[in-house]
Amino acid sequence: MLSPSGKELKKKIANKTAKVSVIGLGYVGLPLAVEIGKTGFSVIGIDIDKEKVDKVNNGKSYIPDVVEGELNKLVSKNKLVASSDYKILKEVDIVSICVPTPLRKTREPDISYIVTAACEVSKYLHRGQLIILESTTFPGTTKDIILPELEKRKLKVGRDFFLSFSPERVDPGSKKYTIKSTPKVLGGITPECDEVAKLFYEQIVEEVVLVASTQEAEMVKLLENIFRNVNIALVNELTLMCDRLGIDIWNVVEAAATKPFGFMPFYPGPGLGGHCIPIDPVYLSWKAKTYGFYSKFIEFAEEVNKNMPHYVVRKITDALNIHKKCLNGSKILILGVAYKENVGDIRESPALDIIEILGRQGAEVIYNDPYAPQIKIGDKQVRSLPLNENLLSQADCVVITTAHSSYDYKWIVGNARLVVDTRNATKNLVNKEKIVKI
Ligand SMILES: NC(=O)c1ccc[n+]([C@@H]2O[C@H](COP(=O)([O-])OP(=O)(O)OC[C@H]3O[C@@H](n4cnc5c(N)ncnc54)[C@H](O)[C@@H]3O)[C@@H](O)[C@H]2O)c1
Repeated sequence: MLSPSGKELKKKIANKTAKVSVIGLGYVGLPLAVEIGKTGFSVIGIDIDKEKVDKVNNGKSYIPDVVEGELNKLVSKNKLVASSDYKILKEVDIVSICVPTPLRKTREPDISYIVTAACEVSKYLHRGQLIILESTTFPGTTKDIILPELEKRKLKVGRDFFLSFSPERVDPGSKKYTIKSTPKVLGGITPECDEVAKLFYEQIVEEVVLVASTQEAEMVKLLENIFRNVNIALVNELTLMCDRLGIDIWNVVEAAATKPFGFMPFYPGPGLGGHCIPIDPVYLSWKAKTYGFYSKFIEFAEEVNKNMPHYVVRKITDALNIHKKCLNGSKILILGVAYKENVGDIRESPALDIIEILGRQGAEVIYNDPYAPQIKIGDKQVRSLPLNENLLSQADCVVITTAHSSYDYKWIVGNARLVVDTRNATKNLVNKEKIVKI
């Protein structure tokens, strides 16, 4: 039976008068804030980064998936505002936490951002508030870390306030799967938390998938990302094997993918990148270790995927060797430093590892990426060079590390002396003489 606070909140959700706050306006939080605003709720975004707060308040988008026109419209109608001041949570009914969950240098989970956000939320927790964690994290975070912090306010979960976990499943750069069309998994601390949070998400997305607990919901997200991580590792290992056997792995995957059932294609690449797939499995294996359980799949997949940049460098070395050149002193042009095509996110990008290894071995490395105008290599800031015939022809080897769709691959290969393609971006070209695939 829902408490009067819960009934009141449900009413506010149903008539869209509930005020919503999204904490963390990054790749996940900003698109979510805009989507919530578009459904009619008033949204207050909170971020500690003043630059992001100013940009939002000026209607400027800094996330490629957020259409500036849509953001601007919400800001000008006062439906979306941003702030760095947590005090505004006093007036907020629903809080969605979308802060980062990186790894420490020791490769252990760093949940300090979640803890800080939870402490701030706790200060302003009041009756009839719904708190939802969306950051990816290990099972137990919502129940064992956030709940005790909130309960310090002497309010009861499921009666006075509501707490749930619902993982963000955004696919950056994708036009096909949007927040609205991607089913939202949800698990609450109590059935009352489920009831309130489900009604909220039903206003925003087409389908809500309820699971039995916050731990189950946390585990769902990790399963999804570990599934990708392990399958990419499998195909990467087969890539090394096929290289020895003289078989083209790309053709093999394409042909296998024609099977209409029981197979899902994963493609080789220079390694894993982004804030999710390389990191999230470590969250789970770390947690499992505290229970004395050691995940062989996760550890082995990490080892295989982390080796891929070294394999790419070996392919570059071998390709130069055929041209009677050595890596030391060669000029290498890297095309694409983002971790995936058509985005500017360079977090954990394997291209950065490749650049570093090439540099260590004496190569002169330059890069172009239309989405990433500047990157940091070691303590040096490096700028993307304009892509032109001169740049291509001067390089001893051009390496395609990210297959942005804005690149004209025929023109690139036509003007380059040698191309190492780590993404099969040149598959449709007829003349493949200069191309070496991984
Ligand atoms: N990027 C993705 O594709 C993706 C997809 C699904 C899930 N996730 C998960 O979502 C979470 C957020 O990821 P992201 O990619 O949006 O990260 P991000 O770094 O792009 O954004 C996080 C934002 O939180 C802000 N922040 C940090 N601490 C804060 C605090 N205490 N209060 C207010 N703001 C604070 C940062 O300034 C930043 O703007 C992570 O757990 C990630 O694993 C990411």
